[in-house]
Amino acid sequence: MAASSEPILEVSGLVKHYPLTRGVVFRKRIGAVRAVDGVDFTLGRGETLGIVGESGCGKSTVAKLLCNLERPTAGSIRFKGEDITRLSGRALKAVRRNIQMVFQDPYTSLNPRMTVGDIVGEPYEIHPEAAPKGDRRRRVRELLDVVGLDPEYVNRYPHQFSGGQRQRIGIARGLALRPEIIVADEPVSALDVSVQAQVINLLDRLQAEFDLSYVFIAHDLSIVRHISDRIGVMYLGRIVETGREEEIYEHPTHPYTQALLSAVPVPDPEAREHRERILLSGDVPSPTAIPSGCRFRTRCWKARERCAVEVPALAVPAVFRRGPAAHDSACHFAEERRVVPPEGPGAPEATGADGNGPG
Ligand SMILES: Nc1ncnc2c1ncn2[C@@H]1O[C@H](COP(=O)(O)OP(=O)(O)OP(=O)(O)O)[C@@H](O)[C@H]1O
Ligand code: SF4
Ligand SMILES: [Mg+2]
Repeated sequence: MAASSEPILEVSGLVKHYPLTRGVVFRKRIGAVRAVDGVDFTLGRGETLGIVGESGCGKSTVAKLLCNLERPTAGSIRFKGEDITRLSGRALKAVRRNIQMVFQDPYTSLNPRMTVGDIVGEPYEIHPEAAPKGDRRRRVRELLDVVGLDPEYVNRYPHQFSGGQRQRIGIARGLALRPEIIVADEPVSALDVSVQAQVINLLDRLQAEFDLSYVFIAHDLSIVRHISDRIGVMYLGRIVETGREEEIYEHPTHPYTQALLSAVPVPDPEAREHRERILLSGDVPSPTAIPSGCRFRTRCWKARERCAVEVPALAVPAVFRRGPAAHDSACHFAEERRVVPPEGPGAPEATGADGNGPG
């Protein structure tokens, strides 16, 4: 972790809607899956941004958009000032080299029929300009060494490795083109807890060694804490709270972040006894029918009338201009102290959805 203020990536108004269709032959469009619905963030050079949220909130879609594996419906992604969503041909290929992805599941993301050497060296087939043919074998061995694997393993196959080792292979492949940014989509979620820390420590070391900036995605706030400089909490296609790591963990102001944090395991038994657990009732609404106003309102114990009609902006709450709570939160009542209603965890009844356009 070595944060700097100079942004390498600036994401603004990012939207990805997938058409929702009915019928097999004549596909009739009946709505949209609003997977990503207006996301803004910046990533400083050398910084790690942790993106956290429940399953289906749009994390992987953001990852794919950043790596240009999907085209956005709207919005911009500026890499060193240039909007990469408008690039094509050679310029697009050059940018793709610089933003690489590490995938969630090392069991399915590595081709079982390819040797480790071929997997790690595969990016050179797509970007032959990155390394002269005669030098690729040497580079692959070097990459294996860098991620803590024996270079003699080049001729082995993925099934001969453990989960943690496979993720090291995936990381080596991600590094092959010497990218400036790595987007890691839940890189340790499929691994045993005992191995997770090792892989996170490896990513931490590589960041310093290769001057990398990371977008690190997870569904659990406890996983990203150690590695992240800043955190973005996602809910139903949007970032609802974002700030420096210590601000988010010590002074969360959005009810959703407060609920997520109340579920994070606490090692100290005394602290564990005294903390309040906020249980969210109900399920996450479908991204095809996002609630009007504040999208979190159907599960929020603080919700009131205004929340159904007015979309809260992601901004610093007025009373917190300074101090650890002075970070962006998309809640009309972020400045209110956290209160759980006396009758226990609560959430008002769902009162319908607007179902159209971002907002
Ligand atoms: N190609 C697609 N077509 C239609 N809907 C999609 C498509 N890809 C994703 N979605 C939907 O968009 C929403 C966001 O999906 P996404 O995979 O980005 O979520 P996620 O936060 O990564 O979830 P998880 O934690 O389970 O990986 C989900 O409702 C998903 O079903
Ligand atoms: S705006 Fe209203 S519904 Fe949304 S998080 Fe704040 S209190 Fe809850
Ligand atoms: Mg995902």
